[in-house]
Amino acid sequence: MIDRTAADTRIREHYERVWTAGDAWDFETSAYERDRHAFLASMVADRRYRRVVEIGCGSGCLTVLLRGLADHVLAIDVATAAIERARSRAAPESAPGTVEFLAANAMDHDFAAGGPWDLVVLAETVYSLGWLYPFFDLGMLALELRDALAPGGRLLLSNTYGAERDWLMRPFLIDTYRDLFVNVGLAVERETVFTGVKDGEEFRVLTTLLERPAAA
Ligand SMILES: C[S@@+](CC[C@H](N)C(=O)[O-])C[C@H]1O[C@@H](n2cnc3c(N)ncnc32)[C@H](O)[C@@H]1O
Repeated sequence: MIDRTAADTRIREHYERVWTAGDAWDFETSAYERDRHAFLASMVADRRYRRVVEIGCGSGCLTVLLRGLADHVLAIDVATAAIERARSRAAPESAPGTVEFLAANAMDHDFAAGGPWDLVVLAETVYSLGWLYPFFDLGMLALELRDALAPGGRLLLSNTYGAERDWLMRPFLIDTYRDLFVNVGLAVERETVFTGVKDGEEFRVLTTLLERPAAA
């Protein structure tokens, strides 16, 4: 059995450092990020959801859009600094739907306990897990998420195809993460590559809406 303590510490310390320094990816200010978050919300906006879990919510830019589609959103991030930013973004609580923010590592969280979920959102998060955890553990997380979905429930997976320098986001890895969720038994409902320009650079984001078939 592999001791996961080193990976747990590294991922928590890394993202805590990132979020303590501020909004490293300009999620809160960039027009590209605003459009990407709006696109992600539009991918799932044809339904209303009872319970949604967003894994790796960062400072909550997508969370506030998901709140409008759901009775309850649980938004998780490994960095407490991200969760604090997200909490202040989601206030006031007068908007429809309730949001619960939780500082937790997705690799240790019990998704079955809070389920069944009608929608799981994993946007720009899975490649961080693939960076530090064994593929076996990632496979088990995919299986756990499938089992925690209600029959007919959805999982929205979205990841940017990286450039040569972006090791975590190499295109073959991004495609492999998508295939992993198909291979655990989720059916592809819709798939789109979102494109846009940020700071003069063109980005392509593989976005897959998957569904747990009633019999899976
Ligand atoms: C690139 S950001 C994406 C934020 C948001 N989902 C979006 O699409 O704009 C990835 C987020 O995942 C969080 N994260 C990384 N590893 C995590 C883990 N093991 N558990 C929970 N959150 C994690 C990071 O702290 C960071 O906020």
